[in-house]
Amino acid sequence: MCGIVGYFGNRRADSILLQGLEKLEYRGYDSAGVSILDNDSLKIVKCKGRIKNLRDKLSKNPLNGTIGIGHTRWATHGEPSDLNAHPHTNEKATISVVHNGIIENYIHLKEWLCSHGYNFSTDTDTEVIPNLIDYYYNGSIIEAVIKATQKMEGSYAIGVISSYEPDKIVAVRKDSPLIIGAGKEEAFIASDVTAVLNYTRDVYYLDDKEFAIITKEGVEILSEEGETIEKELSHVTWNAEAAEKGGYKHFMLKEIHEQPKVIRDTMTSRIVLGEDINLDGITISNDEINNINKIYIVACGTAYHAGIVGKYVIEKLAKIPVEVDVASEFRYREPMINENTLMIVISQSGETADTLAALRLAKKNGARVIAITNVMGSTISREANDVFYTWAGPEIAVASTKAYVTQLIAIDTIALYLAKLKNSLSDAEIEEIKEEMLKLPEKAEKILESKEVIQKFAAENYMHKDMFFLGRGLDYAVAMEGSLKLKEISYIHSEAYPGGELKHGPIALIEDGTVVIVLATQEKVFDKMVSNIKEVVTRGGKILAFAPEGHTEIEKSVHSALYIPETLPILYPVISVIPLQLLSYYMATAKGCDVDKPRNLAKSVTVE
Ligand code: F6R
Repeated sequence: MCGIVGYFGNRRADSILLQGLEKLEYRGYDSAGVSILDNDSLKIVKCKGRIKNLRDKLSKNPLNGTIGIGHTRWATHGEPSDLNAHPHTNEKATISVVHNGIIENYIHLKEWLCSHGYNFSTDTDTEVIPNLIDYYYNGSIIEAVIKATQKMEGSYAIGVISSYEPDKIVAVRKDSPLIIGAGKEEAFIASDVTAVLNYTRDVYYLDDKEFAIITKEGVEILSEEGETIEKELSHVTWNAEAAEKGGYKHFMLKEIHEQPKVIRDTMTSRIVLGEDINLDGITISNDEINNINKIYIVACGTAYHAGIVGKYVIEKLAKIPVEVDVASEFRYREPMINENTLMIVISQSGETADTLAALRLAKKNGARVIAITNVMGSTISREANDVFYTWAGPEIAVASTKAYVTQLIAIDTIALYLAKLKNSLSDAEIEEIKEEMLKLPEKAEKILESKEVIQKFAAENYMHKDMFFLGRGLDYAVAMEGSLKLKEISYIHSEAYPGGELKHGPIALIEDGTVVIVLATQEKVFDKMVSNIKEVVTRGGKILAFAPEGHTEIEKSVHSALYIPETLPILYPVISVIPLQLLSYYMATAKGCDVDKPRNLAKSVTVE
């Protein structure tokens, strides 16, 4: 959460920082600010609210200068306000800092600095950083930053400029993402590559406790000991257009419509008829796979829901027991992990703090970790033993859509790969699944064409305060994702239940007009879902149901029905989630919600 940027070059820093912050606004959007060295003196403009407010403020107080840092905030310590907005400075306003992360020992550091004569004016943890740097400053800003970080506990990606040395930006990270963009006679720092794609696609991915010094001469990367590190420059394959709205009203709608393409892209070269599944980037040996007796899938939010689908699919196809856990729970229990455990972590951003901590815990206990992630160079991709990249392209809307479907494709592909090695499926069975997978993009396209039913249902029902989602088996896993999507962007309270649980409590909440979304794609339990539908309708519930094409009998019992093109039971989640995403989108827009930037949320949760 929070986005940071920095620029040093020959152009005006203010406009480049603003553009960068606009690209990072999905990471936090309660306040924003920039700090620029204008004629070697530090100037700061910051305010509560969106980047637009900052842009307006800057247009009234333009800042000259070609070196600066900027920040867009998701508040943790201190309410969103002009005062608590970043950048923060030392009392003399000679050192300016932007920070993403949490300084966990800030109270102790604050007391210590106060005992040395320092004064503080904000409620933030960040304010200790410029003051610590000030304390250690003795003619070298890089040395002072290195010493300050040795005192700091917690997570941080920081950018520092100082009027003492107005010819450089110093940056460092620990457990929060930070990249350095290398342009021609200019360089950038940013929380992620989308902020620099308009200017360069050549980046350095900093590792923990690596320090970057950006000067006119270029970028130098140092270790904590002050030694130069030779780092490889990576070329980003995403282009700037991929991170634009492309004519859609919202990023979320654009990303929902990109799903046929990203499903196809994620299968490309991996799923080819008549050929073995190709998992390049995954080097786990056949012996290791044969020794696996348990798989953990660990993730957060939407990625966790993809993991639940993964449990059903891997157990069914590869016959290996799978346990799924939310990363924030997994990391604080005592999971039974050893060298025969395979851990699959799923993370769109590759930066989620809890997922990263779970990965580290599993590795420490000897497990092999495969990461399914969308972001090359992300911390999770670099720390996992193997990486399966989802080719979803940049996902900008805070609510995840296209990343989720590609995570499902990744899971299906890994399950088939394991099934082949474990001999749990015949070659013919594997080919049949591959054939059906290859038809999914076309089927996703078809669902997108039938969005009128969803739009109409949303227009009639957006004013409800509560909704329920029901499903059994894989439909339940998708129901959870549909429910999360609805609540996060439309603020309608919703809950997902396995159909069979209805009678064990939730049915007490069904009354006249209660909206219930029912997924009934799984043939094996279709009749059971019809019974659940009847139980809800009898009590006055209003149902929107999703069933496979051909199951028109469902219409007799429900208010509205939408038909999902037929596929194999294990593959329905990839396409049945699409109408649920559209439903939450249309509900949210009907309510006038800010779909791409829902309140209180941030795209990348890099703090615990
Ligand atoms: C929901 C959503 C979040 C993320 C979660 C994990 O729409 O986007 O629930 O899925 O924060 O993020 P990643 O996948 O980046 O680890």
